[in-house]
Amino acid sequence: MITVAIAAEKGGVGKTTTATHLAYLAAQQGRKVLLVDMDTQGQSGGFLNVNGKNLPGMYEALAFHDEFKRGYTPMKDLVQKEVRPNLDILPTSPALGEAELIIASVPNRERILLDRLAEIKSGYDLCIMDVGPSTNLSSLLALYAADWLLIPTSPGLASRQGVEGVLSRVDVMTRRLDRAPKVAGILATMIREKEIATRELLKYQRSFPEEQRAGKVHHAAEMERELGKGQTIFELNADSIPARDYQQVFKWFCDRVALSGVAK
Ligand SMILES: Nc1ncnc2c1ncn2[C@@H]1O[C@H](COP(=O)(O)OP(=O)(O)OP(=O)(O)O)[C@@H](O)[C@H]1O
Ligand SMILES: [Mg+2]
Repeated sequence: MITVAIAAEKGGVGKTTTATHLAYLAAQQGRKVLLVDMDTQGQSGGFLNVNGKNLPGMYEALAFHDEFKRGYTPMKDLVQKEVRPNLDILPTSPALGEAELIIASVPNRERILLDRLAEIKSGYDLCIMDVGPSTNLSSLLALYAADWLLIPTSPGLASRQGVEGVLSRVDVMTRRLDRAPKVAGILATMIREKEIATRELLKYQRSFPEEQRAGKVHHAAEMERELGKGQTIFELNADSIPARDYQQVFKWFCDRVALSGVAK
């Protein structure tokens, strides 16, 4: 199982959109995919019509992680199966914040998600983690568990600072911990071709090595209006510009993270 965190230390830059859309495309092509929601907002479920608030999920996975203690539930029982063909989701809810408090003083707490995912990794080709914008323990757990990091960023200086924020966190992990994700790339989201802010963003993207340029996704009113209501853009309008953009990004993604295996 290849594990990819979609993260940026800035809200509203397209992390959940990117996580759900790449997960959907990989699943549609026959890979077995697990989408993990590591954001207390619990929005990736909503993007696929799964209401994480009423379901067991990441809270139980973290708070009751110890198989020798009461309350432990195997990971396979916390996963919502086949929310789309080949696509499972481990949902979350605002209770994730409480789980952070429960595990805050557990030795080697940064390993907990990595270890829990190991329970089920033989069942999946790909695990995509939707990470929240905050610099909290949940996002550390996700980055620690990830092999790769993909960073979405929309036009505007604050979004680029969100890229720099997560990159410096990865630097600190590299120096202080025994694991840190490899930077897969920087994805330009919600771009409007003629705007200066977009030109600046694309210039910033070009400052990264070529293999880390994940491509671009155009802004579309349809995405702004419809996402979060339970369907991906591929289900809403597969011919739309952002749908085609995400197909391109997906091609880059498969090459970059060497996602070739198709589940039997
Ligand atoms: N290409 C696009 N064009 C227009 N709107 C978009 C596009 N992609 C996403 N959006 C809109 O922007 C909103 C924010 O996107 P998304 O939820 O993916 O960001 P996020 O980084 O996960 O935010 P948060 O930090 O709150 O988790 C979405 O609800 C959607 O309405
Ligand atoms: Mg999000």
